[in-house]
Amino acid sequence: MRNRHSVLFSSVIAATLLASTQAYGESEHFGKTADGQDVEVYTLKNESGAIVKLITLGATLTEMHVPDKDGKSADVVLGFDDVAGYQSEDNQYFGVTVGRVANRIAKGKFSLNGKDYTLAVNNEPNHLHGGVKRSLDKVIWKAKEVKTKLGVGVRFTYTSPDGEEGYPGKLNVSVTYILSNNRNSVRISYTAKTDQPTPVNLTNHSYFNLAGAGSKTVLGHTLTIAADKYTPTDDTLIPTGKIESVEGTDLDFREPTRIGKRIKSLDDTAAIGYDHNYVLTRQDVKAGELAVAARLRDPKSGRILVVRTTEPGIQFYSGNFLKDQKGKGGKAYAHRSALCLETQHYPDSINHPNFPSVVLKPGETYKHVCVYSFTAK
Ligand code: GLA
Repeated sequence: MRNRHSVLFSSVIAATLLASTQAYGESEHFGKTADGQDVEVYTLKNESGAIVKLITLGATLTEMHVPDKDGKSADVVLGFDDVAGYQSEDNQYFGVTVGRVANRIAKGKFSLNGKDYTLAVNNEPNHLHGGVKRSLDKVIWKAKEVKTKLGVGVRFTYTSPDGEEGYPGKLNVSVTYILSNNRNSVRISYTAKTDQPTPVNLTNHSYFNLAGAGSKTVLGHTLTIAADKYTPTDDTLIPTGKIESVEGTDLDFREPTRIGKRIKSLDDTAAIGYDHNYVLTRQDVKAGELAVAARLRDPKSGRILVVRTTEPGIQFYSGNFLKDQKGKGGKAYAHRSALCLETQHYPDSINHPNFPSVVLKPGETYKHVCVYSFTAK
């Protein structure tokens, strides 16, 4: 009897402890799309002070609130307050899931198994971020709450029919976001399966400003990228196919470097700043395992973002095309007031046999994990 009681007692304590450290999630109606589809918003919170919001339109991360070195919280990602904002011209992929193929495909053309494919040219003269109307950022995903040992989250799923946006094969895609129970870390896991060979390269397009979304600039942030090499591009931002060393270039972020330090020298390039794919070093890390890709720090707030990924590349984009559009709370998002660290395969891989392949075949499962972890000191 005594034994039974103590077992019961310790399990009550265990359950209480678990409940007090466990993140939780809830969903609400966020709004309607222009064509009348419902969009839901999911809120995740944990005991270390993080709040994450996600919407079913584009499986998008809309808010990420994390404390600074004094415990003061701020939302560190760009976004909009309503569906209309996300569907407007002002939305430059804020927080969305990008696909089927993130980044550029030269002239929107590729060949696979002897067949030629033509995709929309939506970033003259190239195809960008999966297309125009039915790219993964523009469709409504199904959502389901998930609970794991790590924390709580949302699993988004979408079935892209054969031929959608010009891509071959029916693609079943899932993106799961998990907010850690006791660390301010969001784990994004992607899977995809196809019934025909097709290129797949998914990523998250969050724009970060660690001083808070709407702060004037990210040029004072310090960035480190775990890459010795990058893929040089032509003047339409398509890789030349070469893989070159960052040594002696303005792209070298192997040591913590202020973003503004050398950006001026890139003003007159096609990218108008940083918009480059880095070849991650991944030293001693096996394929499929997480390696540190980048570390970002805002000296004022002390907030630090560490990016880890299973992917071979990361696109560092310094928000060069932000145009003062008004986002959440009416705040304007100025040129270079936020940056993206997009874990992915290299741009235009489908046209470069020397790059790691983005072709997914029937029977295979595409897998990609990206973890964004926030601390402050
Ligand atoms: C990516 C591209 C940029 C730009 C943004 C969206 O990061 O590399 O050139 O198109 O997306 O504005």
